[in-house]
Amino acid sequence: MHPLALAAALSLPALASALSWTATPFSPPSYPLAVRSPYLSAWLPQGSGTALNGAWPEFWTGAILGWAGFVNVDGSSYSFLGTPAVPSATFQQATQKSAEFTSTQSVFVLTAGGIDLTVSFLSPVEPSDLLNQSIPFSYMALSAASNDGSSHTVSVYSDISAEWVSGDDSLTVDWSTTTGDLIFHQVQLAAQAEYSEIDDRIQQGSGYYATLNTDGVTYQTGEDTVVRAQFISNGELANTEDTNFRAVSDDWPVFALAHDLGTVSGTSDTVVYAVGHVRDPAIQYIIADDQLQPRNLYFWSQFSTVNDLLSTFLGDYEGALVRATAFDAQVKSDASSISSDYADWVALAVRQAFGAIEFTVSKDSSGNFNTSDIMVFMKEISSDGNVNTVDVIFPSWSIFLYTNPEIGKYLLLPLFEYQATGQYPNGWSIHDMGSNYPNATGHNDGDDEPMPVEESGNMLIMTLSYVQATNDTSLIADYYKLLDQWTQYLIADSLIPANQISTDDFAGSLANQTNLAIKGIIGIRAMGEMASLAGNSEESSNYTSIASSYVTQWQGFATSSDGKHLTLNYNNDSSWSLTYNMWADKLLKLDLIPDSVYEMQTAWYPTVDAEYGVPLDTRHTYTKTDWQTLTAGIMTNTTVRDMFISALHAYASDGENNVPLSDLYYTTNGDVYEFQARPVVGGHFALLALQSAGSSSVSNATGGISSHSIDASSGSRLDVRHAGAVLGVVCCTAMAFATIL
Ligand SMILES: *[C@@H]1O[C@H](CO)[C@@H](O)[C@H](O)[C@H]1NC(C)=O
Ligand SMILES: *[C@@H]1O[C@H](CO)[C@@H](O)[C@H](O)[C@H]1NC(C)=O
Ligand SMILES: *[C@@H]1O[C@H](CO)[C@@H](O)[C@H](O)[C@H]1NC(C)=O
Ligand SMILES: *[C@@H]1O[C@H](CO)[C@@H](O)[C@H](O)[C@H]1NC(C)=O
Ligand SMILES: *[C@@H]1O[C@H](CO)[C@@H](O)[C@H](O)[C@H]1NC(C)=O
Ligand SMILES: *[C@@H]1O[C@H](CO)[C@@H](O)[C@H](O)[C@H]1NC(C)=O
Ligand SMILES: *[C@@H]1O[C@H](CO)[C@@H](O)[C@H](O)[C@H]1NC(C)=O
Ligand SMILES: *[C@@H]1O[C@H](CO)[C@@H](O)[C@H](O)[C@H]1NC(C)=O
Ligand SMILES: *[C@@H]1O[C@H](CO)[C@@H](O)[C@H](O)[C@H]1NC(C)=O
Repeated sequence: MHPLALAAALSLPALASALSWTATPFSPPSYPLAVRSPYLSAWLPQGSGTALNGAWPEFWTGAILGWAGFVNVDGSSYSFLGTPAVPSATFQQATQKSAEFTSTQSVFVLTAGGIDLTVSFLSPVEPSDLLNQSIPFSYMALSAASNDGSSHTVSVYSDISAEWVSGDDSLTVDWSTTTGDLIFHQVQLAAQAEYSEIDDRIQQGSGYYATLNTDGVTYQTGEDTVVRAQFISNGELANTEDTNFRAVSDDWPVFALAHDLGTVSGTSDTVVYAVGHVRDPAIQYIIADDQLQPRNLYFWSQFSTVNDLLSTFLGDYEGALVRATAFDAQVKSDASSISSDYADWVALAVRQAFGAIEFTVSKDSSGNFNTSDIMVFMKEISSDGNVNTVDVIFPSWSIFLYTNPEIGKYLLLPLFEYQATGQYPNGWSIHDMGSNYPNATGHNDGDDEPMPVEESGNMLIMTLSYVQATNDTSLIADYYKLLDQWTQYLIADSLIPANQISTDDFAGSLANQTNLAIKGIIGIRAMGEMASLAGNSEESSNYTSIASSYVTQWQGFATSSDGKHLTLNYNNDSSWSLTYNMWADKLLKLDLIPDSVYEMQTAWYPTVDAEYGVPLDTRHTYTKTDWQTLTAGIMTNTTVRDMFISALHAYASDGENNVPLSDLYYTTNGDVYEFQARPVVGGHFALLALQSAGSSSVSNATGGISSHSIDASSGSRLDVRHAGAVLGVVCCTAMAFATIL
């Protein structure tokens, strides 16, 4: 039995009434199909429910990605993927029976005549193996099962179009087909433009569609209607190549692969396709003296050709499926300790968060890959495309802390290294590593989006969080000067924050923001801890006492005069906001903010709860998914915590939206305000991060900086390398140790 079929049989699916199929656990705004990088991001939009063959898959922006599928059963063809029109051939539509998502998989079952076709999309998330995580490929697996007890002859077909490689369909592409142990098609722009985007699509590199060259595989490239008609009418392809290279939209060239499954009486063999997008180099990164360093996806250090990579990737499908199923089960089990709504909520976030980051290495002066120089880059998808935005890494932080805190370190390193070169002129922390992904070219003019308190606080909080999770103090040792510099800024400017924007820049700027101030104050307190770890005990006690005195003053400025809630901005009784930055006090186990403040906020939010959750603040009716989840995490009453989570679940499952989950929506009606597909949904893991954080109490550990006690390969919290064995290596109550069937 397919492992997910078992999971489906054991759980009670929440049925949206409008759907004619079973949706487990619910029908999301958009299903991730192949989501592994900012440029491999294929989704199936839902709205009130859309079958796998009821719409074209889309890039996260909404641009169509030609990705078609047909199954031929006893001589009749049925479409199962996309909405291809093929005027010259007759086919029907398969009927969707079920759809399911887990953390790493989206699985659809469709009935086509006498068979049920299972279509499984797997985008691996392998946080314990950063090289594997750098591979920009996803799987689609197909298997057919007789649904009437009879035998049927079955063949399956799928193609991709050249829409996978450009944001401009009028540009010319060329392509090739390679046959050997694999059959794969490769397609790319004829004129490549390194590091360039059009409509968020990289204009560099190649798209791939590949399968193992087993018995009964056929291939073809050519005009969409011609190639598809060939399969629909014949159940196989012609093994021919169209070499008339042309524009993406000029007679729409497609790249097709078909498999003859023979006679199926029970369940067929599984046919596996790999789809992906590869470019090299991936990132340009500013190093000292304004030099630009090209950086390569980590997998290149092990594979010298894409052919080799595809061969290993396709050959590893069974293993990848076992690992993915183990990962999914552990996330589900851990999150279920909060609630089943919460388990659904985090599962929907996983591919979206990991799909915004890329794992890179550099080359040394002799041209060899330097695998000691790992850096992770994140695209601020949808909002502005910035690189490694500090206040986007911060909300995403929880998922990395939960899965492997080393990823957090490798996201921070590009920011630390650049600022350590001295080229960034401001005294506070930089906002991002570059305005346009994939150019991590810094801001030598100091003209990045100014969020001085926000980003300085974020850097200090995330650094201490990483140290607490791993006992690796290298960031403190290597960048103490920067950390201390940002602390000085916060000491001067966080208690009475000037008129400025916070991370919620869409809400506008404001002076004396309560929630912004507490982030800065927690940052100062975090530096107290780090100074102690560095052996600077006088500095440590100074910063710790400054933070304590600030918190007391902050309570005075920020508590409404009736004592019922914190205000949005100081001395404004009629205002309030989600004070999600208090979460960092809990994460770091600082006990900086008195319990009474948590209790006050917990009593307050139920009084201002709207249909789809608590608004971000009194200026607007919209709210944020990430910040509500962090706020849920600091509630002292589980009923109030669950109030937040159930509203978020209702928003995600209400059938109103059709974009990759948006983090910014209206509390009044659950409609999206703006943004989609952003990595900040990693913050949905905030409750799990609190449970697994702070395993090492460093508050009184004054041993100084000596032990870099952990390395990348052993640093994983959620280690699913050995499925079937005990999973995970963590301290805390909620990290249940799952075993796998
Ligand atoms: C990145 O920089 C290169 C120049 O090095 C430029 O051609 C390209 O357009 C930039 N990319 C983006 C997304 O702005
Ligand atoms: C490899 O990278 C590490 C980390 O940045 C650096 O310390 C080391 O010098 C590099 N090695 C070479 C040979 O460039
Ligand atoms: C960090 O060190 C503390 C104290 O030695 C220890 O209890 C804890 O398990 C360590 N944590 C990790 C992740 O190694
Ligand atoms: C900010 O709050 C402080 C403390 O209450 C107050 O003195 C100052 O006037 C406020 N600034 C603004 C711009 O409201
Ligand atoms: C504490 O830190 C502040 C800010 O850096 C500094 O002005 C002050 O002199 C320090 N106090 C002590 C006692 O070191
Ligand atoms: C107080 O907050 C309300 C609601 O956010 C806002 O409309 C008003 O302008 C604020 N007043 C001041 C003085 O900041
Ligand atoms: C928790 O909050 C709920 C909803 O506001 C309230 O009814 C309940 O009394 C609270 N429980 C405790 C122990 O405070
Ligand atoms: C740290 O604090 C704990 C509890 O307060 C105490 O038992 C322990 O001895 C302290 N460790 C050091 C190194 O001071
Ligand atoms: C990484 O991928 C390889 C195949 O390329 C596989 O053998 C290995 O188990 C994977 N490791 C992890 C931890 O997922």
